[in-house]
Amino acid sequence: MTAAAVTDAAATYARYRRALAGHRLPAAVVDVDAFDRNVDRLVAPLQATSKRLRIATKSLRCPALVRRVVARTGERAIGLMTYTAAETAWWAAQGERDLLLAYPTVQRADLDDLVRANRDARAAVVVDDAAQVAAIGAVADAAGVTVPLVVELDVAWRPFGGRVHVGVRRSPLHDAPAAVAIARAIAATRGVSFAGVMAYDAQIAGVTDASPFHRWQNGARRAMKRRSRAAVETVRADTVRALADEKLPAALVNGGGTGSVAWSAADPTLTEVTVGSGFLGPHLFDYYAGLDLEPAAYFALQVVRRPGGRVVTCHGGGYVASGAAGADRLPVPAFPEGARLLPLEGAGEVQTPVELPGGTTVELGDPVLFRHAKAGELAEHFDRYLLVRGDTVIEEVPTWRGIGQCFLG
Ligand SMILES: Cc1ncc(COP(=O)(O)O)c(C=O)c1O
Repeated sequence: MTAAAVTDAAATYARYRRALAGHRLPAAVVDVDAFDRNVDRLVAPLQATSKRLRIATKSLRCPALVRRVVARTGERAIGLMTYTAAETAWWAAQGERDLLLAYPTVQRADLDDLVRANRDARAAVVVDDAAQVAAIGAVADAAGVTVPLVVELDVAWRPFGGRVHVGVRRSPLHDAPAAVAIARAIAATRGVSFAGVMAYDAQIAGVTDASPFHRWQNGARRAMKRRSRAAVETVRADTVRALADEKLPAALVNGGGTGSVAWSAADPTLTEVTVGSGFLGPHLFDYYAGLDLEPAAYFALQVVRRPGGRVVTCHGGGYVASGAAGADRLPVPAFPEGARLLPLEGAGEVQTPVELPGGTTVELGDPVLFRHAKAGELAEHFDRYLLVRGDTVIEEVPTWRGIGQCFLG
């Protein structure tokens, strides 16, 4: 680390310390200037294209931040990718008009929410199974509403004739004929309409390939992504062509995520690209080759003890991310620069000790700032985000939790 970088980090820590003075800790913080710069960086690849931006709300879980992205990106933002049916109905009631629930559901309470959402808005939902189509169609038809359905195409990398599956386990529809079959079923079902295709490249957008947590895998991960890209482009294009041949044009073709935005912007088949997490710059997105974002979200814990040596102990802090469990799911201390978790304690429910670098002192009551591994999940632990500009908290905005909604049930 250069002397200038150390000074920058010290100045940033001092700035956040001033901003947080007098605020109750733990607190969750979003640096709005860094957030806005991330928005600009992530939308830049789309600007030279006709593609639109769909904002993944579950990666923000804070309506004010979603609206901030919409305000900054203007016409580029086509709408929201939502997490649950309850959330979808909530946004429709708030006046949002283009919603895509990206995760299928068949339970009755959710279907009622989707019907409700479609009375005010266009609220599409992803399907990949004839049973989902039938369940949604029956409830929608009885209510006199048409629910737009988007067919999810699986674009996991499946080399060796499909015997190996590299990617997430989502849709069973691996090719154009399978997608066409379900689109035909939609066209033949009352209460639903065929709206398009979602083909999310999770093994590209969601897989780190420059990670200090698995250095020995980075080369193989980059090779996997290189090979998989061509296959994804082909199956997307083949599917959209086959649907058009069946007179089932896919008006919406969605793909991409923070980790694949530049490549997705160049895929001619996509009409829109989803982005969410990158706006907040959580630490997992530090570990993607060629992705240049900056940290915009933190949580600040209070230093409450000095157990000895260079260790200080903070209150709370065990905000561990979902996914395959591993050290990369833990939060990382960001400020003071060079602070690190203790391997035997990690980030704890009631306390999180950190070891400070030599020469760094913090007082009892001072904040230590951490970054969550992922973007949206931090909001589950806090009622509000403190929006910081410079060394001032300029606004406090509620998270989902703060508006009394977890949208998960
Ligand atoms: C369907 C879908 N598209 C896109 C994304 C990418 O979102 P993000 O930009 O937050 O990584 C996700 C993330 O889970 C997703 O589930």
